[in-house]
Amino acid sequence: MGESVLMASGFARTANGELQCEGVSLETIADAVGTPVYVYSARAIRDQFDALDRALAPVPHRLHYSMKANSNLAVLRLLQERGAGLDIVSGGELFRARAAGFSADSVVFSGVGKSEQELREALAARILMFNVESFFELEQLNRVAGSMGMRAPVALRVNPEVRVNTPHHYTRTGERGNKFGIPIDEALEAARRALAMPNIELRGLDMHIGSQIFQLEPYRDALGRLLDLYAQMRAIGANEIRYLDIGGGFAVSYEDEAPMDLDALASALLPPIRESGLSLIVEPGRFIVGNAGVLLARVMHRKKSGGKEYIISDAGMNDLVRPSHYDAYHAIEAVRARTTRSVVDVVGPVCESGDFFALDREVEDVEAGDLIVIRTTGAYGYVMSFNYNARPRVAEVLVDGDRFAVATRRETYEDLVRLEPQQLEWRTD
Ligand code: LLP
Repeated sequence: MGESVLMASGFARTANGELQCEGVSLETIADAVGTPVYVYSARAIRDQFDALDRALAPVPHRLHYSMKANSNLAVLRLLQERGAGLDIVSGGELFRARAAGFSADSVVFSGVGKSEQELREALAARILMFNVESFFELEQLNRVAGSMGMRAPVALRVNPEVRVNTPHHYTRTGERGNKFGIPIDEALEAARRALAMPNIELRGLDMHIGSQIFQLEPYRDALGRLLDLYAQMRAIGANEIRYLDIGGGFAVSYEDEAPMDLDALASALLPPIRESGLSLIVEPGRFIVGNAGVLLARVMHRKKSGGKEYIISDAGMNDLVRPSHYDAYHAIEAVRARTTRSVVDVVGPVCESGDFFALDREVEDVEAGDLIVIRTTGAYGYVMSFNYNARPRVAEVLVDGDRFAVATRRETYEDLVRLEPQQLEWRTD
């Protein structure tokens, strides 16, 4: 990974070769908080947010951070200070958003299956907009809003049916036949129905085509399709459409790829948006936090078996599932640089052969007790962790300048059993 990417992510090596986060030694954090632990750079998060905000400055825009990527309250608060809004996908995320101090009118609510209770909670809170993904949801929202004496602000999430190339097919959402959004050839009919519903205000058009996208073409093609639809919708009387939400998906660098080029993105997308007169909404998640975080772990031991060599770290697939779940690449480095390297599997202690972070990868010759980082884990890391093998969820630490703070404490063994009653309360109907 190039040095400039390291710098941009808030992590850099000191003159003696030790990896630091901003002004804080990762060894200090490991000693104070234990391992495994996620470590985030506040500066890197702010820098990414500001860079995107600047790139979009030529048009009226709103940046709604997609909090599924990393919903830690401290991370949310620092984005709120920057003026971010949020993209949420559940009642739980709405709760977190509000706990972090976001006002509901800075929230858009996406998701292919929203429960009636979630709709009620979001209506009562008066969120900015529901990104509606089906005829069913439109009717349900009309009914629920009516029962509350309210009108629901809605953007129609359209599946623009473009070809999207992402590292894994699980993260493509804008191709024909995906479960997300209203199929493009039904979108005009959805608008017609929305306009006829007494408790729906049609305020926007929305798309989200996938995650970790490098190419501009799918965005440009999909945007063109949405703007065509906008013209058709206006022709049938949709006069209140103000927002064009192009979703998230902007790629970050995991290896030595160049991240999404913001200038190229801006020059491809902003002119037609400006011409449309609409306000742009973006919903980036990974782009804001991905490179701002590492998973800091300790090597437990090395082991040879069947002609292979394994490095066993104290972090496991339950702490970071991306390599196992998506075959995702994450760079792995020693905190104290080592000069020799060998080809190994870097694995965790979980009882699954799928518990790995790297397979047949040349890495530094770390030994038992050494600290390593698994990079670019600020997005979809901690939020996707789980308790398999009764492993307590790890801590999260935020670094800001030369200070650090625990932003999530490590779970205890007690936490593992706290939802399960000692005595079952048996019931019958
Ligand atoms: N908006 C909507 C409606 C979304 O569904 C998503 C992500 C985003 C925005 C933000 O996408 P981003 O900018 O982060 O690419 N767990 C997977 C990624 C799943 C993304 C799901 N939706 C991973 O670890 O790669």
